[in-house]
Amino acid sequence: MTTASDSVLDFTDVSVAFRSDGPTASAPAVDGVSLSLRRGEIFGIVGESGSGKSTLANTVLGLLPSSATVRGHVRVNDRDVLGLSESDLRALRGDEVAMIFQDASASLDPTWPVGDQIAETIRAHRAIGRRAAREQAIALMTEVGIPDAASRYGDAPHRLSGGMRQRIVIAAALANNPQLLIADEPATALDVTIQAQILQLIDRLRRDHGTTVLLITHDLGVVAQVCDRVGVMYAGRLLEVGTAHELFARPTHPYTRALLAASPNRVARGTRLPVVPAQWSVESLHESEAVAEAEAAQ
Ligand SMILES: Nc1ncnc2c1ncn2[C@@H]1O[C@H](COP(=O)(O)OP(=O)(O)OP(=O)(O)O)[C@@H](O)[C@H]1O
Ligand SMILES: [Mg+2]
Repeated sequence: MTTASDSVLDFTDVSVAFRSDGPTASAPAVDGVSLSLRRGEIFGIVGESGSGKSTLANTVLGLLPSSATVRGHVRVNDRDVLGLSESDLRALRGDEVAMIFQDASASLDPTWPVGDQIAETIRAHRAIGRRAAREQAIALMTEVGIPDAASRYGDAPHRLSGGMRQRIVIAAALANNPQLLIADEPATALDVTIQAQILQLIDRLRRDHGTTVLLITHDLGVVAQVCDRVGVMYAGRLLEVGTAHELFARPTHPYTRALLAASPNRVARGTRLPVVPAQWSVESLHESEAVAEAEAAQ
């Protein structure tokens, strides 16, 4: 049982539906998800494309479009964030909660020196002078593994490699020592070696700063490598939660079993979740759940 004090992020029965323009109501993108993240853990969410991972994550910082209706409760440190005003959300973003997306280039302003972008993030949340912010930005750049950070401070994003740009984004995300880091496919756009380095970096930051991490990924190898616990999403629902070890060794939900069976070398790095086998419709999901329940009852 998780008590209020050791959970940083709580989803309680969260559902998200997008208003569609057509005559038929579309299925909910997120469907009744309940989940608590323990302080200091790396929690992985896996699931095929379209299963609702990003939509769930985007509820936390109010990043969904106005066509989305969110129900349930999302709490950060016991505070419900769904009803927060835009200015309260701004204060939450980058301070208590930081988010990293797949495409670093899209998060950075192409016309601005990368170091200044980190320094401004610091100054947006704390009353410190320019010079001190610059020094802290350089220290952060060094911490995330940018060699000779002081001389890269003034570089525009395009002068850095993709992996370096993603490190800058991570440095900016960590600038105010957030308690919770949400990373939505933070390394997917990068080549495999750089991916591994970025994940090691996230793991080290968690160790050094005690940051709680919600890590969204398609990649089962990533889960096996860095996640403490994992949740499997399918068609908007959180089907199963367990330690990475439990999930790989003893998947209980039929979908998880199908998923693992469909990934031949499933814990190797770079193994991506297969698109769900054709027989898996939401109906078959319900049916197989009924079968699993019946099996369990015997
Ligand atoms: N802005 C939007 N308007 C309408 N529907 C949306 C919107 N964003 C997401 N959806 C729908 O919600 C569902 C979940 O999408 P979501 O982006 O959360 O999936 P995902 O698991 O993050 O997929 P991926 O792995 O491809 O990033 C999909 O059916 C998608 O089409
Ligand atoms: Mg996504």
